[in-house]
Amino acid sequence: MKKLLIGNWKLNPTDEATAKKLFSGIKTKASRLRKVKTIICPPSVYVSALAKGATSKCAVGAQDLFWEVKGAFTGQVSAPMIKRLGADYVIVGHSEMRAQGDTNETINKKIKKAFEYRLQVILCIGESERDHDGHYLEFLQNELKEGLYKIPKKLLRNLIVAYEPIWAIGAKAKAASTPQDFLEKSIFIRKVLSHIADKDTAMKIPVLYGGSVNEKNAEGFLTEGKADGLLVGRASLSKDSFNEMLGIAERVK
Ligand code: PGA
Repeated sequence: MKKLLIGNWKLNPTDEATAKKLFSGIKTKASRLRKVKTIICPPSVYVSALAKGATSKCAVGAQDLFWEVKGAFTGQVSAPMIKRLGADYVIVGHSEMRAQGDTNETINKKIKKAFEYRLQVILCIGESERDHDGHYLEFLQNELKEGLYKIPKKLLRNLIVAYEPIWAIGAKAKAASTPQDFLEKSIFIRKVLSHIADKDTAMKIPVLYGGSVNEKNAEGFLTEGKADGLLVGRASLSKDSFNEMLGIAERVK
């Protein structure tokens, strides 16, 4: 399986010209790699501009979608709109969207709609804190079970799961998680996925790590942590940092 390196640009950069320049700098590097697939998720207003230059090695995704396709839904963007702009992927259930009201139920509706319009889904899950009794594992299990409720098994081939512990995300995080911890969580995630679908399907779903990933810790998550890829926030806004991670992902066994 190719390693997936996903850049989640969030509300950056502030203008389209900078977005295009950053994308093209990343694409130049991404195009030379055989073992890595790059997916850049810019703000939706830049999707069209970037998708014009997208390739099979450097694709474009959106950061969210709405589950209806038309009507009185102020501020929303639909699956077919995103698809028509040229996105092939969409992030669903990012913790920053969950903080704004996304629930497992709305996430489930979003995933169903995304699949209906042939978008591949990057489903983010992650607990806000750890407890000693393992309740957080139950929380992760529910995010998967409820988020993927009644989604036909064969559609799960279009799913990517990103495990992003909320305590490890963003500038306020003390640090990233550890490769060993990610490895344990990814085994747990696959086990839950194999109950939702089956073992074979679960083994084919890429499980990524996200949360304070940078060029210094990327290798550990990909080797010791056996991550199928990385979801990168802040460090995806620097061409040099992101390209260094692409190089690392190409090199690791
Ligand atoms: P970060 O963000 O890499 O800046 O911690 C990751 C994410 O929120 O996807």
